[in-house]
Amino acid sequence: MDTAADPGDSCALLASLVERLDVGIFAVDRSGTVALWNSFMAIHSGKSSTDMLGQNLFAMFPELPRPWLEKKLESVFVLGNNAFTLWDLRPYLFRFANNRPITGGLAEMRQNVTFLPLRLSGGEVSLVCGTLFDYTDTAIAQDKLHDAIAALHREKDAQAQLIAKLETAQNQLLQSEKMASIGQLAAGVAHEINNPVGFVNSNLQTLKKYCQQMLQLITVYQGAETHIADVELRREISALTQAMDVDFVQEDLPELIKESEDGLVRIKKIVADLKDFSHVDQTDWQYADLNAGLDATLNVVWNEVKYKATVAKNYGVLPPVECLAAQLNQVFMNLIINAVQALDESKGMGTITLSTGHQDDWVWVEVQDNGLGMSEETRKRLFEPFFTTKPVGKGTGLGMSVSYNIVQKHHGRIEVDSVPGEGTRFRVWVPVKQALTVD
Ligand SMILES: Nc1ncnc2c1ncn2[C@@H]1O[C@H](COP(=O)(O)OP(=O)(O)OP(=O)(O)O)[C@@H](O)[C@H]1O
Ligand SMILES: [Mg+2]
Repeated sequence: MDTAADPGDSCALLASLVERLDVGIFAVDRSGTVALWNSFMAIHSGKSSTDMLGQNLFAMFPELPRPWLEKKLESVFVLGNNAFTLWDLRPYLFRFANNRPITGGLAEMRQNVTFLPLRLSGGEVSLVCGTLFDYTDTAIAQDKLHDAIAALHREKDAQAQLIAKLETAQNQLLQSEKMASIGQLAAGVAHEINNPVGFVNSNLQTLKKYCQQMLQLITVYQGAETHIADVELRREISALTQAMDVDFVQEDLPELIKESEDGLVRIKKIVADLKDFSHVDQTDWQYADLNAGLDATLNVVWNEVKYKATVAKNYGVLPPVECLAAQLNQVFMNLIINAVQALDESKGMGTITLSTGHQDDWVWVEVQDNGLGMSEETRKRLFEPFFTTKPVGKGTGLGMSVSYNIVQKHHGRIEVDSVPGEGTRFRVWVPVKQALTVD
């Protein structure tokens, strides 16, 4: 370029550049009269520079945010500093159509506008020049970015849900593996214990008979003692009698045997529970009256109940239910015994309410007590095998896990409601009919 060019030429060059730049350029004076309007503005507004020059900007574009823009322009006139408006805060100043509406998806052109003070005659700002940049592409890209980020978030949420599901499935798997191996262990233990328990029980009965006979014999001998003439022999007998504390042994022996018998009964109950727990005895499916089953069960445990609670019954009319009746009875028994054991003896007789009902294809049996209730921790672990809060010898912690398995086998469920200090309500739901494939 010729450095010594005519200043008139360079002005013309500048004017043609301003005219042809792909940026909107316009200028207004303090009254809002348009002094410059380049072709970008003309093309996008549909108003030529001839239309615009000398006209009031706000009169020509009534849609402009007038109070805001007047304030903005005024601040540039007064302070002489640049001012801006950005598309992400104010999408557009002029309502220009997006020039790529088909690919873009945005109807209006997004605009960044910078307002520059122009000092044509020395110090005072006589014009404010607006330069308007088209940011539509950036806005579209940002929208796409937002969409992509949102999709990523959705995907991340879905993954988190999937991971949670996997964790649950894994826990269930672990739980069922644990249950299966506990089941096998239980079946093995039950089997092993059964034999020795059998012969200990039979020996104990014989021992009991022998003891009774021996005690009878001793009593007869004691009666005959005064008839022994040999003083030395009598002294020897008396010394031995005292050393052995025969009177006490005579009293204690039957009690020891009775306690051993009770112990055996307890072992048998544990073995029975273990067997049920591992489902080794499976009986036939049959249609049974659960109200009758509940009554029969209550009879079996009546001895445990009668001194501790009054029993209220609230039975509904039930259809015959396809079930393993003996096993459901065991569930009822576990629930009733638990209810009795939960009663607060310091409050006198408790109340146990047995209710039954029928709803659609289901029946329910409910055992409610007004005992001590359960803590949150106990409620959570209730169905765990071997979980008990009872003293050693009173609970094995198998009752509820056995019951849970039995109800599962019936494709039913157990609901629990418990309030510490107020009591507990168990409701067992079982379907009236089993599906065709009963496992
Ligand atoms: N009705 C109830 N009220 C309060 N707590 C209960 C009740 N039923 C069960 N529980 C709690 O749940 C625990 C587990 O019950 P579960 O019947 O499985 O075992 P257990 O009664 O302790 O022993 P087992 O039944 O084997 O003799 C109990 O130890 C007790 O803490
Ligand atoms: Mg129990």
